[in-house]
Amino acid sequence: MTTRRARIAGTGMYVPERVVTNDDLAQLMDTSDAWIRQRSGIVERRFVVPGEQTPADLATRASQEALAVAGLEPGDVDCILLATLSAQHEFPGTSFFLHEQLGVGEIPCVDLRAQCSGFLYALSMADSLVRTARYERVLVVGCEVHSTGVELATRGRDVAVLFGDGAGAVIVEANDDPSDSAAILDVRLHAEGRHARKLWIEAPGASLAKTRVTHEMIDDGRIFPKMDGRFVFKHAVTRMPEVLLETLSGASLKLEDIDLFLFHQANLRINEYISQQLGIPAEKCLNNIDRYGNCSAASIPMLLAEAQRAGRLSPGTVAAMTAFGSGFTWGSAIVRF
Ligand code: COA
Repeated sequence: MTTRRARIAGTGMYVPERVVTNDDLAQLMDTSDAWIRQRSGIVERRFVVPGEQTPADLATRASQEALAVAGLEPGDVDCILLATLSAQHEFPGTSFFLHEQLGVGEIPCVDLRAQCSGFLYALSMADSLVRTARYERVLVVGCEVHSTGVELATRGRDVAVLFGDGAGAVIVEANDDPSDSAAILDVRLHAEGRHARKLWIEAPGASLAKTRVTHEMIDDGRIFPKMDGRFVFKHAVTRMPEVLLETLSGASLKLEDIDLFLFHQANLRINEYISQQLGIPAEKCLNNIDRYGNCSAASIPMLLAEAQRAGRLSPGTVAAMTAFGSGFTWGSAIVRF
């Protein structure tokens, strides 16, 4: 009896049409194109038109492309896992609004909250659900609308300039064909909750006051993300190579066996530093942070979709995906297409 494997059958992405350049942000706060480019590699990002586009709208477009690429209909999916840190509402999760818009009957769906590593957490769970034959096909989505949650003013500039809106999706499906080697080969995940407050949004919160948000919290800016940038940077450049090498070892592969490296898009400097440390050639690393900024849980599936659109995910291609984010969380996945 062969062991059942799960493979990625299709990818999709969607970003809002509204382009926001660094110069546009400099109209709203004390920052500059030179500062943002030099520190992060970001040139522009996409923002929704507030009140007109929801997270579920972006997720639906990305999911529809992933389904079309896989040659599937929404009714072919058995379960939806959606990773996000910028939920459409307090509850229920964004996945339920995606569920409504896709029209998928009564299949289960759930939101996962593992921030910038969220897609890899969801991919790992989809892999397990498919390999244990609980489901045949799982739609895995990363989706963020950051633009309505960051403080677009000088007080919030250290975080606000880094983030963008977007969604990416993949179909994880069973592969029982022994002649087809496409598979999720290994996924490794980690977390370190003691650093939760190094990158977080404190309010609204169920632990704070009689109500989850007060006028005072809003005035104090406690509803906006706060980050110890240098601390996060230092941990990202340590944890990402560590977990990538751990996952390679789990998959019995070497760095040279990897055709494409898809690192989370938090900062181009982080990714350049890691590539340099590990001796990874630039042409094997895909980045889109210059065009989209940090789209958290959506960054890696967006990179995957761009790779597929560019014809870089041919049968046999081995891709390594690695992320680090708030929580702290970090993880890596090795996938053969
Ligand atoms: N525009 C202009 N100046 C800014 C600015 C902005 N948008 N944001 C901060 N600054 C200022 C700071 O106030 C500081 O000024 P000072 O020296 O007068 O005090 C100066 O720029 C340097 O700030 P610093 O925070 O030391 O910069 P840095 O070199 O650490 O770079 C980050 C900042 C955020 C780009 C960097 O720390 C980083 O990328 N960290 C990791 C972020 C990350 O990965 N986050 C997501 C994880 S999923």
